[in-house]
Amino acid sequence: PRGTLVDRFGRAHHDLRISLTDRCSLRCTYCMPAEGVPWLARSTMLSTDEIVRVAAVGVDLGIREIRLTGGEPLLRVDVVDVVRRLTALTTPDGAPVEVSLTTNALRLPALAAPLRDAGLQRVNVSLDTLDRARFAELTRRDRLVETLAGIAAADAAGLHPVKINAVAMRGVNDDEVVALTRFAVERGYQMRFIEQMPLDGGHTWDRTAMVTQAEILERLTAAFTLTEVPGRGAAPAELWYVDGGPATVGVIASVSAPFCGACDRLRLTADGQLRACLFSQAEVDTREILRTAPDGEVAEGLAEAYRRCLAGKKAGHGIDDPTFLQPRRPMSAIGG
Ligand code: GTP
Ligand code: 5AD
Ligand code: SF4
Repeated sequence: PRGTLVDRFGRAHHDLRISLTDRCSLRCTYCMPAEGVPWLARSTMLSTDEIVRVAAVGVDLGIREIRLTGGEPLLRVDVVDVVRRLTALTTPDGAPVEVSLTTNALRLPALAAPLRDAGLQRVNVSLDTLDRARFAELTRRDRLVETLAGIAAADAAGLHPVKINAVAMRGVNDDEVVALTRFAVERGYQMRFIEQMPLDGGHTWDRTAMVTQAEILERLTAAFTLTEVPGRGAAPAELWYVDGGPATVGVIASVSAPFCGACDRLRLTADGQLRACLFSQAEVDTREILRTAPDGEVAEGLAEAYRRCLAGKKAGHGIDDPTFLQPRRPMSAIGG
């Protein structure tokens, strides 16, 4: 079923974010409660064959980039195999699919090289602080040293560019904007600061307390000369050269400067639900199709699922609407 994934607003979709598991080895306070969340039942999670099948139909329809997320995607035992099989997919015009991964880095010392060999292009790593005690408080695990080792392993394996994500949080790490940027610039990584979105399990997010892009830039410009990098396209991050470059720093201002108008993303949860947006209330089930449709009808059924998912896509996330509702699933089960 060749075609294109264009929605009601004329947005063509080229990017599929696949969550490989909702489990995680950390418990970041902005993502999960200390005790975790009720995990998806194993039987509801897509097998690797099933993931590849859904992805292959997406690629046929215009997906060119696949991002693996979690929870923590490297907790999936066969993640290297998943990468190998997804990078083997080719677009209708014969180009390879670009596969990348967003991770907490803990398993990268063991996996960076095998992932690179399997065709993985690059990684984004979540690192919210460089202070060991803060890291332990924020993630509820004393594992900063291992995280840093994972980042170094990605760099050594050539998973470039290494991008570092930090969710900016008032009174938690907002005083580390400059230190984190220095850390990244010195090592050739790209630092990105993220406005916190209303996705926390406790529903405690508060727009007025959020650290905004303006505030992040104020801290950065006090220490560095920033010049805008042109050509953002559909990327969530707006980038600036640091002190003339080549190093860049980015801000993902999902709340104060939404980029929904250029959105080219679809999401697939670990239990096989297609989502048009991080903030969708609706999901389209692929698992039922995969497991019950006659084999010859699965591909068309999946293509129909993509079309149905896109047909319901809204213009934007609507965080500022008075009727806004947080998604029913926690962030860890959507995949960020
Ligand atoms: P690159 O392609 O490397 O730039 O990755 P990315 O920034 O798109 O993905 P990553 O997984 O590193 O996510 C960084 C931040 O962007 C996280 O806070 C995500 O939740 C957020 N993000 C990713 N995609 C979207 C999206 O479509 N909408 C919104 N609002 N946020 C997104
Ligand atoms: N708002 C914005 N980003 C978030 N992330 C996790 N929770 C939130 C939130 N509420 C980020 C993580 C990770 C990425 C996939 O999503 O830091 O880097
Ligand atoms: Fe795990 Fe990512 Fe959530 Fe942190 S933000 S607890 S690394 S899923």
